[in-house]
Amino acid sequence: MNTGALFDVTGKTVVVTGGSRGIGRMIAQGFVQAGATVLISSRKSDACADTAAELSAVGPGTCVAHPADLSTAEGIESLAAQVAEVAPQLNVLVNNAGATWGAPIDEFPDSAFDKIFDINVKGVFSLTQKLLPRLRAAATDGDPARVINIGSIDGIVLSITDNFSYSASKAAVHMLTRKMAATLAPQRITVNAIAPGPFPSKMMSYFLDNPERKEAVEGAVPLGRVGTPEDVAGTAIFLSSRAGAYLTGTIIPVDGGLSGTR
Ligand SMILES: NC(=O)c1ccc[n+]([C@@H]2O[C@H](COP(=O)([O-])OP(=O)(O)OC[C@H]3O[C@@H](n4cnc5c(N)ncnc54)[C@H](OP(=O)(O)O)[C@@H]3O)[C@@H](O)[C@H]2O)c1
Repeated sequence: MNTGALFDVTGKTVVVTGGSRGIGRMIAQGFVQAGATVLISSRKSDACADTAAELSAVGPGTCVAHPADLSTAEGIESLAAQVAEVAPQLNVLVNNAGATWGAPIDEFPDSAFDKIFDINVKGVFSLTQKLLPRLRAAATDGDPARVINIGSIDGIVLSITDNFSYSASKAAVHMLTRKMAATLAPQRITVNAIAPGPFPSKMMSYFLDNPERKEAVEGAVPLGRVGTPEDVAGTAIFLSSRAGAYLTGTIIPVDGGLSGTR
């Protein structure tokens, strides 16, 4: 056994949606620092390009940007066409782009179901579907292509926030992960989900930018802290490396013990 190469992802081609900030950026940074060639995507083209430039400057891998609204069919087609050009053999797809919505039950709008499900669930399925030719081109028996969906602890345990469509969408991502894993295993494409607990990001800024709310969030985590870039990038790199080649259809909570100890 070559233990030195177990977690090696050097030279792999990786797409990270929502890679401009937050958890997507943490994952993209991990892959770039591990020597991979990464394409990130998000709606705001400036933010996306800035992040790609910053990550490429760190290296040793590279990062390029392609802006696209992945809640629309046009955005997905546009990203799929770009991937075909820059990474015809795609080793890893990280479906991370996502959004949330909070409102009390009596005020929760129907539109917040469409908006959240379009990006969090339909976008994950459609982009994976459109990139299957690229993933199949990279897949081998010994080194399957990998799809990593970013779910959430809110799809596993009850959330204390009024995020009705979000938590339902993340439970849907987890089941979609298992269904796609079963379908794609014979084609040597693995599909797993990471279910993060609290990580600092724009999505979590309401809680983590306020000292009292932050303390409450940290206090609820058995390991007593929020997640770091190493925590989530490490799991994504593990799933993409030789070490993670025999996992498919799993939902891995990266949550400081929040779900596993309840
Ligand atoms: N942070 C946490 O504690 C936490 C916990 C559990 C799960 N998660 C999940 O982790 C993922 C990342 O969340 P985050 O916390 O890092 O949130 P974030 O800081 O809000 O980042 C979301 C990313 O997705 C992009 N995005 C949003 N809507 C998009 C669309 N329609 N098309 C393309 N890109 C889009 C955003 O860029 P643009 O706005 O430029 O499009 C941004 O790059 C999400 O799936 C979220 O549900 C987060």
